[in-house]
Amino acid sequence: MAEISSFNPFFAQTLIHWYERNKRELPWRETKDPYKIWISEIILQQTRVDQGLPYYHRFIQTFPNVKALALAEEKNVLSVWQGLGYYSRARNLQQGAKQVVYDYKGKFPTSFEGWLNIKGVGSYTAAAVASFCFLEKVPVLDGNVFRVLSRLFGITEDIAQAKNRKIFWDKAMELIPADQPDLFNQAMMEFGALQCVPKSPDCERCIFKTHCFAYQKRLVAELPVKIKKLVRRSRFFQYHVYVYKEQVLMRRRSKGDIWEGLLEFPLAEKEKLEALERKPKPVTASSFLFQSDVLKHVLSHQDLYSRFYVFQVKTKSDWNTLIQKHDAEVVSLADLDETPKPVLLTKFLNAYFYPYFSIHK
Ligand code: ADE
Repeated sequence: MAEISSFNPFFAQTLIHWYERNKRELPWRETKDPYKIWISEIILQQTRVDQGLPYYHRFIQTFPNVKALALAEEKNVLSVWQGLGYYSRARNLQQGAKQVVYDYKGKFPTSFEGWLNIKGVGSYTAAAVASFCFLEKVPVLDGNVFRVLSRLFGITEDIAQAKNRKIFWDKAMELIPADQPDLFNQAMMEFGALQCVPKSPDCERCIFKTHCFAYQKRLVAELPVKIKKLVRRSRFFQYHVYVYKEQVLMRRRSKGDIWEGLLEFPLAEKEKLEALERKPKPVTASSFLFQSDVLKHVLSHQDLYSRFYVFQVKTKSDWNTLIQKHDAEVVSLADLDETPKPVLLTKFLNAYFYPYFSIHK
């Protein structure tokens, strides 16, 4: 394999040559108007190129320049944005337009640093506009570019971690030709979008295959490294325990969530911890017996906060109503211990339920 560093001086020219022959014709590539570039980049953060195109045309037609956008009614901006989702992006876009019109007398910033001051503009968008329109030498780092850099140059640091951005930034800075930062950045993005795609890229037909770190080391599928953070989720469960003649109601948990197929008491899942405080109104004329404390139960990715409310059901007809309403199964207290159920329920039964009914286990 050739030394990677020996490939630096040729890299940009080879890449730009590839770009000129393979690029898609896209309207924002035919202009140096910062307004249009800005709009296109914000739209493309929200959706793919083919889906973004009609939005781009509609947006530019409706608000042809920064003044038109600044003076528009917000509802009209949101209406053009409709379907793209994440409406705060559209609101920020208009806030940014107002900033340019009212604070900067209608003149756009001309540098990367200047663009960072515009509402809703992060380093990706600032670099895109600064390099495409004002030929500033700053790298545009989007998912495509991280992938290309990681594979070609063997950067194995986790791209999900902000602290590793500098490694990619520095590598890109080494590569960008001072006289063509616009073409280079566009070409990197396009190369990632068309050739160095995430899944099963056609490396046999890649111009860089003899130099590519990932290809030479058979690591294409492994790069870039992106380690998903395990997000912990808090959930709030209010259980309704209905008791009737030494029996309780239970229902089976369905697919696609924790505890698939296990039995539990009828459950009302809440949005907030405080909602567990409010005693539920029973559907039937049951009498409230007692409630548990809020029990915390920790799963691998979730913290569950649960409170159990126990009711005595008074009549057979109420009992049948509840069975129907909850699509429930009847379980006798004698079988409860053997019933397949989440550990959380066993905790509740042992600490609150059995003692209340003086059941000795
Ligand atoms: N995705 C984000 N920015 C883009 C651009 N300027 N051209 C093509 N695809 C993009």
